[in-house]
Formats: sequence, structure tokens, C-alpha cells
Amino acid sequence: MSEADVAGKKRMIVVSNRLPFTVRQEAGILKFIPSVGGIATGLSSYLESLKDHTHEFQDCLWVGWPGSSIGEEKIDEVRTRSLAEFNAVPIFLSEENIEDFYQGFCNETIWPLFHYFQVYTHFDDSHWAHYIEVNRAFCRTLIDLIRPDDTLWIHDYHLMLLPAMIRQHLPDVTIGFFLHIPFPSYEIFRLLPSTWRREILKGMLGADLIAFHTNDYRQDFLRCVLRILGYDPNMGEIIVGDRIIKAETLPMGIDYRKYNEGAAEPAILRKKQDIQKRLGDAKIILSIDRLDYTKGIVNRLEAFQTFLENFPSWRRKVVLLLIVVPSRVDVKHYEVMKNQIETLVGRINGQFGSPEWTPIVYMYKSLTFSPLIEMYASSHIALITPLRDGMNLIAKEYIASRVDKTGVLILSEMAGASKELLEAVITNPGNRNEIAEAILEALQMPEEEQIRRNTIMQQRLRRYDVVRWATDFMEELANANRASHRLAAKTLNPDARSRIMEHYHRSSRRLFLLDYDGTLVPFANMPHKAVPGQSLLRILRDLSQESCNEVVIVSGRERDFLEQWFSSIPISLVAEHGAWIKEKGSDWQMTPTMAAEWKPKLKPLFERYVDRIAGSFIEEKDFALVWHYRATEFEQGKLAAQELKDHLLALTANIDVHILQGNRTVEARVGGVNKGTGCVRFLSGDLYDFILCIGDDVTDEDLFAILPDTAYSIRVGVEGGTSAHHTIGSVEEVIRFLDQIALPDDQAISPAG
Ligand code: UDP
Ligand code: G6P
Repeated sequence: MSEADVAGKKRMIVVSNRLPFTVRQEAGILKFIPSVGGIATGLSSYLESLKDHTHEFQDCLWVGWPGSSIGEEKIDEVRTRSLAEFNAVPIFLSEENIEDFYQGFCNETIWPLFHYFQVYTHFDDSHWAHYIEVNRAFCRTLIDLIRPDDTLWIHDYHLMLLPAMIRQHLPDVTIGFFLHIPFPSYEIFRLLPSTWRREILKGMLGADLIAFHTNDYRQDFLRCVLRILGYDPNMGEIIVGDRIIKAETLPMGIDYRKYNEGAAEPAILRKKQDIQKRLGDAKIILSIDRLDYTKGIVNRLEAFQTFLENFPSWRRKVVLLLIVVPSRVDVKHYEVMKNQIETLVGRINGQFGSPEWTPIVYMYKSLTFSPLIEMYASSHIALITPLRDGMNLIAKEYIASRVDKTGVLILSEMAGASKELLEAVITNPGNRNEIAEAILEALQMPEEEQIRRNTIMQQRLRRYDVVRWATDFMEELANANRASHRLAAKTLNPDARSRIMEHYHRSSRRLFLLDYDGTLVPFANMPHKAVPGQSLLRILRDLSQESCNEVVIVSGRERDFLEQWFSSIPISLVAEHGAWIKEKGSDWQMTPTMAAEWKPKLKPLFERYVDRIAGSFIEEKDFALVWHYRATEFEQGKLAAQELKDHLLALTANIDVHILQGNRTVEARVGGVNKGTGCVRFLSGDLYDFILCIGDDVTDEDLFAILPDTAYSIRVGVEGGTSAHHTIGSVEEVIRFLDQIALPDDQAISPAG
């Protein structure tokens, strides 16, 4: 397609490890075979639907691996045919990458671990190195392809590093990420080596929207983000620098009409009668999955054996149609499992079978669409019992294919689909007796009941189909992107920096009001460890040496600490949020009418929390008590902080004590004092024609509130709302900015430089 053809069209780039087709070479001839698996089938349907709709995305490209190692001589042909026939751009993986990235890291580390198969999980540094390398290879190809207005939709566990890699090169591009497998609990995820777990989370956070099939997976992801990276999500939103990242639950749907209408075709109905005739009057129980230990095929066979043992009257009246689709056969556990399945099928058929009846009809092959819906349409029961499964589309496809609404779905409670298909017979996939009971219940379920349940499930699947799922995803992605832009608009960008610096250089009386912790120095677990570095002390010295500058450090810290570090620099100090003030060249003064007789009364309560919550401690100031919980197990600390705050509020209702929650602290401090009241004296009298105020915490909002309109206010970090005019990402950025300001007029450089 020429540039002119695509101008004005919005383009979506779908990125997944596996393309919707797999290329095979047979006698030197290339064959493009449809891929199996949820992404390939589901997304193909969605992209197909875009052709019929007036849709904002009128053009789509799919970038991924063609599923096998392609010889040098065939690469051009695969590339040309992929683009011409499928609008796809292939990424070619070397034999080594297939082994170490695909089979290794993806299918021997992430796949088993995220499905809670700890014992199958390998940790191999070389596999991890190849994972990074292949994600980089995807990134390189994409960077050459992406146009500024493109929307990228990255899929699944093979490419978790890719969003951040692309974001690094193209900061403004819109990126969505969908994980098709479960996201495990923190206890499981943390089994990854610490660098890997951090890189994986940071990689995913390169996206604007990260979505999961179920709310459990989303919650587990958010918990890992909090506990491993320390970002505290708010209503599913994570703020990183000047970006908002949204985590959403969006269960993938199917192309309902394709299955429902396909199954109603006369040819399918004829086939259905044929199959039923061939199997006599037996009830058909369908079991169909990719060959995968997560699918619980072995457990299912054992459960079928238990069923035949426990309910002998059903022998010869049921047939288990077992279809296993070849998958990942080069990975050790898959091959082992195939042998196990085949041994079990032989044993069960040998034990119960007769010349007239074979209990299990076994096929090891992949089916295309028509034979697949023939199976769905012919089976009285679908027995789908994965031990873990992100979603399981087969369960949904079975229900959609039941044209007359009869049939029973037995579904594992461990499949994501069980959160939506509540009318199925839900069972525990690890317990053979429960599955056997479920089979009995399904066989005995009256037809009216089957129809009642399937009507409800069909309605849901029809409404929330794959197109609706993808459209919702795109809408959420656009919302997330808008929220990030709003946030970025407040960010102190190079233009705003230039304006402030230009104003600074033409003004003659300047005031700097600077918070300390979280603004001039990063937080440390213990406050005494957060000391000023040499460059900060030099910058403060430089600023204060300009005769027309007045610098004030406005802190919650005690007098002694500020005195210890800043007494040699000619600046003013405000301690304990305004309770103590030391103007340049003078002594400390206490704000009048301060009382602290309440402190000994409240201290035992603070001590009780220190005893209960390991890692927390009390900081005692002249007019305040502070409970710090930065070094505690975060969620426990946060809950306890809320509790302590409520408790303190009740206890201090009738005395002049102020309770506030700061950055991982709860503080009780004397009333009537805050950073605003503490700084009034610097702001009265219109002395200054340039005022710059920087803070990071709720306590700094009191200061922002009393600034004149002409002052510049900046809040560090962006958690929560702020009345400051601008936001800035980090302490390091504050230091760089102050350093630029502190340069003498004749050496001033541009803020972008
Ligand atoms: N499928 C197929 N041919 C087969 C068996 C399955 O095309 O012989 C398709 C099936 O229609 C479904 C997908 O493969 O859309 C399997 O998705 P599911 O979510 O059930 O499991 P996954 O393989 O993704 O783990
Ligand atoms: C699952 C994964 C997909 C994968 C599919 C088939 O559905 O979520 O990402 O494509 O299995 O597995 P394969 O290894 O053959 O691509």
C-alpha cells in the first residue's frame, strides 16, 4: 500500500509471538496453515470484522513469528506472501531463538510458572538473555514500521518487555497490552529472580493500558506492581513519571455468529447425524484441547475411568471423544504428557471396552473450522477441565454452536471462562470424584434445564463477543491515553522551565520555598539516612550567595537535623511544619502559644502500633509524634495507618491536635500550625517579584494554597491531586532544575540542554 493510500487512515498494529498462520515447508513448497490457540483464532475474527464495519481503524498490520524456522532462500517469499495475503510482517527467529526464547523462556519458564506449575519451571540465564534479544528484535522491526498515529496492540507473555522498549524510542505512541494467560499471585511471581521480575513489570508498564481476562489476574498484577516496584495503584491506575497506566479486566469473547450460524448449516447438521449414527445411541462427551499439561487431560481421563467404575449402568451408553491438538511437542513436558495420555486411553479402553463399544475415541490432530463445529454440534456434553487456563475459548465456542440450545458444559473453576459462564456445571479439575459426579449430573440433566442454562449463556456470549471485547479494549486504551496527556500537560516541560528561568533572570527579589524530604532528597527507610548530597549543598550555597535571593527550607523535620546540615549556608529554615522558624542570621523562634502536653498521652497508642507492625517506628519532635511505616510490609502498613489515623482522630476530637497522613507516615501535631502559616512571614509585604515553591506531599499543599497567583508552584511525583501549577517526576529532576537556575546569569543554558 502506498503512503498516499494510507494517508488519513488510522492504523492498528497487532503484535503477537504467533501469527494467525504457521508456515511449513513440504518438499520445498511453502504452506500457510491457520494457527490454533486463542489469540490466533479470536483476533483473526475481530480483524475480519473490521472490513465490514465503519471503523476508526481502517487498516491493520499483524507483526509476529511465522511459527517455524525459515531457510535463508525462502525468507523473501514468506515476507512477500505474508504481506500480500495476510497483511502481516513476519519476524524470523533463528533455531537458537526458537529453542531458548520460545521453547525455553516462554514455555519452560513463564508458561508453567504463570499457570502455577512451579515444579515444571526452569530458570536459565541464557533463556532470559534470548527473551530480551527477541523482544529487542520485535522492537527494531516495529520502530521502522510505526507511524505517529498508529495504535499498537501487543499480546501475551512472549512480549512482556516490548511495551517499555518501544516507549523508550517512541515516547508518545499509543500502546495497549493484553495478557492471555493468568497473571499469578505475588507469592508465585516472586519466584522469578529479582531482576527478571522487575524488568517484566517495568516492560508491561510501558503500555498505556494493560488488560486481563479476569479481575483476579488484574488484582494479582497490581499487587506485584506495588510490592515489587513500589507503585501504589489507585482504582487500577498506576502513575509512573508523567504517565498514567490503566489496568483493566476485559474477558475475551468469541465470534459468536460464526459458530452459531456455522453450526446451523445443513452440511453440519448432516454430519452431526452421521457421527451420532456411527456411535450408536451413546451420549457423546467431547474433550478437546491443545496438548498441554495445564489443560488437565490426564486428570480428566482418570475421572472418566472413575465415572465408569462408579456408575457401571452408564457403560456402553457414553463415548468420550478425545481430541488432542498437537502443540509445543519439542518441549519436554508436552512429549511426556502425550505418552501418558496415550497409555491411559489404551488402559481405559482395554479395561472397559468390548467389540461393540470403545469408551474413548482418540484423535491426535488439529481441526479446521468445519470439523471443529461438527464436533461441538454432535456432542451432548463438553468436558472442559483445565487445571489452570487464562480464559478457554473452546468452552464459549461449544455453547455458541448449540443451535437447538441443548447440551451441557462441564467447566473447570480454574478456567477464566468460569467467571462468565456461571450456568455451566462448574467442577474442581483436580478431583476425579467431583468430575465423575459432574458427568453424571450432566447426563441426567433434563432438556428444559439444559435449554434454560444455555439460553442465558448464549445471550451473554452474543452480546459480549470478540468485536465488543476488542472495541472496549480500544476505547479503554484511548481513555488511558487521554488521561496520560492531561497529566503530561501539567508536567514541567522545557517551555515551562524556560519561562520560569527567564522570569528568574529578569527579577530582582527572589524567594525559594523548598520542602526537604521527597523534594530535595529521596526518601530513605530511616529519616536520619536521608541526608543532603554534596551537589544539593553546593546548589543551595550558589543560590543563597546571590544577594537578591532568599532561600527557605520548609520541612517537617526537627530543628536539630536542619541545623546540623544547613547552619553553614545563609538560608532560612522552617522546622516541624512551621512550629519552629529560623530566619537567616537569627535564632530559632517558636510559633506562639504552642503546647505539647498531649504528647505523652498519645504516645502509648503509637507504641502499640510499633509493637504490632514490624519495621515501623516513632519519630518524636517537640510538637509532633510521627509513626513511620515505609519499611513495613506495605499493605499491612497502609491498613494499620488508616486504623491509627481513625483512632487518633477519635482521641483528639476535643483538643487542638492535627492528624495527618503523609508519605508513608501518620502524624499527630499541634494544631493551628502548618507549612502555610509557618511561611506567612516570608510572603507578607510583597517583597518578592519571583517566587518558586517546590514540594512533594499533602503538607506542601498548605504552602501552595497561600502563594500569590504570580508564584510558581511545583509538586514532585504526581500521586493524588495537587493545586500546584506544575508537576515534576523526581528529586533528581528537581536538583537538575535548581542547578540550572543557580548558574550565574552569564552562564545560563537552555533548559532542554
Ligand atoms: N482450535 C482450532 N482447532 C483445533 C482445536 C482448537 O482451531 O483443532 C481453536 C479453538 O477454536 C479455539 C482455540 O483454538 O479458538 C483454542 O483457544 P483456547 O482459549 O480454548 O485455548 P488455548 O489453546 O489458547 O490455550
Ligand atoms: C495460548 C497462548 C497463545 C499461544 C497459544 C498457542 O493461547 O496464550 O499466546 O499462541 O496458546 O501456543 P503456541 O505456543 O503454539 O503459540
